[in-house]
This record gives sequence, C-alpha cells and structure tokens, in this order.
Amino acid sequence: MNSTVASKEHSINNSFTCTLSNEQRDFLFNELNQIPYDPTGNTDYITKVRAVAMQALPTSVVKLLSEQKTSLKPAPYIIFENLPTDEEVRFTPDSQDIPREAKSGYISENLIIAIGSLIGEPYSMFHEGKNIVNNLIPSLKAKKEYTGLGSEFELDFHIENAALKFMGSNNFSPSGLLLTGVNNDPKKPLTRLSDARKALSLLSEQDIEQLSQPLYRIKVPYRWRVSTPIELQETSPSPIITGTIDLPEVTAAFYPDMVAPINDLAATALDNFRNAIREVSIGIDVTPGRLVYINNRFTFHSRDAFTPTLDKSGNPVRWLQRIFIAPDLWNHRTLEPVKDRVFKLALNH
Ligand SMILES: [Fe+2]
Repeated sequence: MNSTVASKEHSINNSFTCTLSNEQRDFLFNELNQIPYDPTGNTDYITKVRAVAMQALPTSVVKLLSEQKTSLKPAPYIIFENLPTDEEVRFTPDSQDIPREAKSGYISENLIIAIGSLIGEPYSMFHEGKNIVNNLIPSLKAKKEYTGLGSEFELDFHIENAALKFMGSNNFSPSGLLLTGVNNDPKKPLTRLSDARKALSLLSEQDIEQLSQPLYRIKVPYRWRVSTPIELQETSPSPIITGTIDLPEVTAAFYPDMVAPINDLAATALDNFRNAIREVSIGIDVTPGRLVYINNRFTFHSRDAFTPTLDKSGNPVRWLQRIFIAPDLWNHRTLEPVKDRVFKLALNH
C-alpha cells in the first residue's frame, strides 16, 4: 500500500485490510455491471446488489461484514483493496448534477452499496446529497466550508453527525459510513482515520472521567443548521464518551465551533483527547479501486486541506463517493422521504 501513509509509528493494521484477487475483482465487476444504478435507493435495487455481493464476494469477506453488522467485536474501520472500477471516468462533474456521460457505468455506485448493504441499511440525507450515493467533489464556491465539498480548510477529526446521537428519536447519526474513489487528485489529499480507543489509552483517568460526564454541548454540522429547528441545533450538556473504554460510543467533532465544554477542566480533557486522536491517526488516499468503511461509533475521520487540481475546463478533478448506513431506518420514520431512502428533515418535527 504505497499510497497510504502512517503517522509516526502507527500503521494500518493488516487485519482491517481486505484485498481481492484479480479473479475476484473481475467476477465482481461482471456481476455489478449488470445492475442499473437506482439513485432512489429503493429496496428492489438494494436487494439485487446485496444478493450479488453475497454471491460474488469471497465468503471470508461476507463473514467479516456480517461480524461488523453484529457489532460484537467491531473493527474500527475496514479498507478494501483491488476492487473493480468504472472502465472510464471522462470528467468530474458538479456534485449535485452527475450526467450519465461522466463515466462509463455505475460500478462505483453499485460497489459502495454492495459492501455497505452487508453491514447496514444504506440511506441519504437530502441536504448532504440528493441521491442514495453522495458525490464528494470540491466546489470552488464552497472551498471555505467545513463540509465534504470544501477544500481550503482541513476538515478536522469528527464523528459524522455526532450531535444527533443525543437527540432521542431524532438520532440520525449513521452507525457507519463508506467512502470510495472515483477520480484521483494527484495532490493526494488524505482522509485520516483514528480509533478513539487507542487515543483514550493515552489519556489520564481524570481526562476520561471528564469526557464521560455531561459537560459538553455538541452542535449539529453547518449544513444541518439551515434546516434544523433552533432548539435541536445543539445538545443539552452531554458526555463525549459513553459505555466502556474497550467499546465506547464517542460523540465529538473537532472542527471549529462544534463542541462547547461547560468548564475549564472539561475543556482541557477535550484538548488532550483531540491531540491523542491526531497522534494515533492513520492517513489513506481514497483512490479508485479502494474503499474505506468507517465505524462511526468510535472511529473519527478527517480530510486534509488542499488546493484542488483542476482539469482543462477549470473543474476540480477529485471525485469521491460516500454512503451512510444505519442498523435500520426506524428513526427515519419521522423524516420526509424525498425518495425511497433519501430523507429530508420535516420542519414541524
Ligand atoms: Fe465526515
């Protein structure tokens, strides 16, 4: 894995990496290539892709994904290598409007659904992406945003939609997310992953005690604030970690203005946690043929700041795809289904 880099002595643990053989890759390509992508994510489509994935992926991989689904001994992340890719990516379009001719088929979409649907139920939030698979393409207009479309600022370590974990039946924080590459930026901005359990092992008992107390107000991400009623824009004082140190549920985001500690001791513990998260992180270039699953219960992710490489027409070349997964979509019943599995916040909730 020459394009992944490890920070300091921390390297990618091979037990979390799954590399397909060329025969497995080609077989999967042929099977996925026969399924038309359905951007609504309806259950007929998901079922077809899931059935193909169970048949085409090696049993050891299906077992690994089933184990992840049970969450009895959850992995912090799983990296898949040598996956099939679309034969041709002709250009990187605007993230909200993906014309059919941008690439030769829908291998990347089917692939991310295939792997995701063996761990959970894929879904999308309309304001994050209008289709079941979200396209993460730098937007020159949004370059100063702390979102998947930004570029100029580092998107610091966060648990995806952390605040939503404390909003009862409004918990739409995904249990996991998956990222795959469609088109590479030669500048290789890295996505970084950090297992919170490793970071907690570096902290003092006093810091862990602080992080376990309801001493933090956590805000919903910027893109949610526009469509979220004011009283749901931040949590009441909540803990950053719940459960055991071996298997904690973690709720934090370290980019600006996301977590407000309610006293100085709590603030120091949060700073120490942030530094430890950075120290134990690993970096990975999410390229075509590589897919990363991130366990959003205790694994943070971040993206480096970068200046997007542009094509001849002046459009950024970097193109990633993402899906969210949940154990089921029961909580989503309070949302408005814009499409089968694409949901919008209903303002009267
Ligand atoms: Fe994120």
